[in-house]
Amino acid sequence: MTLLALETSCDETSAAVVRDGRILSSAVSSQIKLHAEYGGVVPELAAREHLRNLMPVVQTALTDAGVEIGQLDAVAATQGPGLPMALLVGFKAAQAVAFALRKPFVGINHHKAHLYSPWIRGEPLIADFSGFQPNLSLIVSGGHTMLVLVESELEHRVLGSTVDDAAGECFDKTGKLMGLAYPAGPEIDRLAEQGNPKAFDFPRPLLKAPGDDFSFSGLKTSVRYFLRDHPAFTDDLQRLRDLCASVQAAIVEVLVVKTIRAAKREGVRCVTASGGVTCNRALRRELARACEREGFELRLAEKALCTDNAAMIGVLAERKLLAGIEPTSFDQEITPGWVLA
Ligand code: KG4
Ligand code: ZN
Repeated sequence: MTLLALETSCDETSAAVVRDGRILSSAVSSQIKLHAEYGGVVPELAAREHLRNLMPVVQTALTDAGVEIGQLDAVAATQGPGLPMALLVGFKAAQAVAFALRKPFVGINHHKAHLYSPWIRGEPLIADFSGFQPNLSLIVSGGHTMLVLVESELEHRVLGSTVDDAAGECFDKTGKLMGLAYPAGPEIDRLAEQGNPKAFDFPRPLLKAPGDDFSFSGLKTSVRYFLRDHPAFTDDLQRLRDLCASVQAAIVEVLVVKTIRAAKREGVRCVTASGGVTCNRALRRELARACEREGFELRLAEKALCTDNAAMIGVLAERKLLAGIEPTSFDQEITPGWVLA
């Protein structure tokens, strides 16, 4: 099966062509620079950029894959959750293409696509579920932080999520307090590499509390008070590095400890992680260390697939069609608040 997938839920315009689990092409146009000026994603601007970029990105994906539009067997797009006007651009375009080609259309839950992205690997990228085993999956990005028990392929149960800020949001907002540009996550990661993670002791919210929920707004507040009490602190590069390393260590410890604890309790032997924050080197290192200690298999999404991309949307859409799940109606509307259950 040859399938075209589109992803426009936030600030990445992406198109991918997937054939029998193989990622034939994956084109991503990021709007990060545009939104950086405003310190965060501006929904109206995001939608306009998607409108401008979608056709060139689709054309690139088709050309890179060597596929003509008439050769497509199905079309998929992110249906939700996401910014309404942004979602509309990719979703309606994909529906229209599928309608014109008289081919099935599949609307995909963005979080669910993240959930299965750690199973896409290799060079060239290929989705391989042959080694699948029940796993505990950590989804961490700018908009979401979730622990999910994936019991079997296409079956899962959400165990916990953030009650306030997402982990990526915590990186971005604390970074902003330190004067770093949006999104601050990658910059904190870079600065932290030469910092002392034990320099400052920031709170580890809900680390010891029962349950699988997360909370990161208290950590953000303590960084705000810290900087208020230490004016001009970040003018010194080494102090800034130490601060980044210490904040990062707090976020990473909470994510790792809660993930491992849930995996042990649920009796699974495999941990997976996906979403933009999974690019973070300390998180990748600490998850690897903890999983090795527990004898768990660890599957981290490839870095190119951690941030938003259409390849993961296409992989899930193809698996749903092959599993005999009904395509999505051409009348279906976007579901911006679609919560993974
Ligand atoms: O998955 P994603 O592209 O978008 C959402 O669906 O939200 O994730 C973006 C988030 C941002 O908050 C960004 O700061 C964070 O992922 N991020 C990182 C790193 N790379 C991206 N956070 C920490 N360390 C990184 N290396
Ligand atoms: Zn995402």
